[in-house]
Amino acid sequence: MVQDKLRIIAATAFGMEAVCKREMQKLGYTELFVENGRIEINGTFEDVVRLNLWLRTAERIKIKVGTFKAETFTELFDETKKIQWGKIIPKGGAFPVDAKSVKSKLFSLSDCQKIVKKAIVEKLKEERKEDWLDESGALYRFEVSLLNDIAEITLDTSGAGLHKRGYRKLIGFAPIKETMAAAMIDLSYWNKDRILLDPMCGSGTFPIEAALIARNIAPGLNRKFTAEKWENFDLSLWQKEKTAAKKLIDYDTELNLYGYDYDPEVVEIAKINADDAGVLEDVHFESKDFLKLDKLPWEYGVMITNPPYGERIDKRDEAIQIYKKFGQIMEENPTWSYYLLTSNEDFEGAAGKKSDRKRKLFNGNIKVDYYQYYGPRPPKE
Ligand SMILES: C[S@@+](CC[C@H](N)C(=O)[O-])C[C@H]1O[C@@H](n2cnc3c(N)ncnc32)[C@H](O)[C@@H]1O
Repeated sequence: MVQDKLRIIAATAFGMEAVCKREMQKLGYTELFVENGRIEINGTFEDVVRLNLWLRTAERIKIKVGTFKAETFTELFDETKKIQWGKIIPKGGAFPVDAKSVKSKLFSLSDCQKIVKKAIVEKLKEERKEDWLDESGALYRFEVSLLNDIAEITLDTSGAGLHKRGYRKLIGFAPIKETMAAAMIDLSYWNKDRILLDPMCGSGTFPIEAALIARNIAPGLNRKFTAEKWENFDLSLWQKEKTAAKKLIDYDTELNLYGYDYDPEVVEIAKINADDAGVLEDVHFESKDFLKLDKLPWEYGVMITNPPYGERIDKRDEAIQIYKKFGQIMEENPTWSYYLLTSNEDFEGAAGKKSDRKRKLFNGNIKVDYYQYYGPRPPKE
């Protein structure tokens, strides 16, 4: 691979492209190519490192290895074999291949996967003049993905998905993905000078993500990435970027972040997670029942929450009670802004107030709506 010229893909969840694009622009990237579920840039391995370390809303960072038309297995094999695999996979590198196919003549995933693997093996054997390939070293995971008979081969650089920041070893019921929580915060009016409250915080994801944003803590500082073991790249870049990221942490800003949940065990989990993320002192966690919440003691706060959806019949009434209470809280606290994610289409009716904006998103595989109620701006803004 020509290491200083890479086509890099930041893969996002559907609907999150614009948020991720904005994040990349803030990191200084200007030439961005946005497609469904991805943002692409031309860059170097240094960019691979930075994007893995800094992007809060991308799911993973990949390198595009090749793209070509493939309507037959022969085409898939021959085109794959044309790639100079020896420049990508060093001796000893393990190279599993995954496959995906949408609207394409080649739809057998196991066949696509086997053929691409075989083409890589043959090419490497020819290039190295070896009969047997040792795969006991670093991992180079490829994916061949077919869409409308166009094959694209990508190399994953992240390893575990980027939502795995390393701080959430324990979870409550139905936790939200960290990448999704970060995107929802980005889509809100919250900034580090404002109060943020999640009154049904579960494992604490919203206030923890808000603290990481406010402190400018790179979300990947606490975890490992596959590409950290790739000795055919300049591995000192990881240390360089991590050291630079640590210097950028803002330890000074005073934060007002709150997480409540009626389940005291879940609140303990949230505290452990916040501690692992290094932001325990930034968030006030407390066990409180949302249904018994009095008028809030602060003005101009931002409430972001992912309440129970009431999908199970025996939980429906409970969810409706929560949505009604949400409506009451909005009445009592008119200077606040409110953001709520649910799949329950009865939410607005039960809350008794139409949202200013409703955004369609996916929480995992569940179709959800992100209801947004914009309050007034705080006077000093
Ligand atoms: C979908 S989960 C929230 C997940 C959370 N966003 C996370 O990332 O872990 C809903 C949470 O609401 C809490 N909850 C349900 N009813 C509540 C109530 N009346 N008062 C406070 N919390 C409540 C549950 O204990 C659960 O943790």
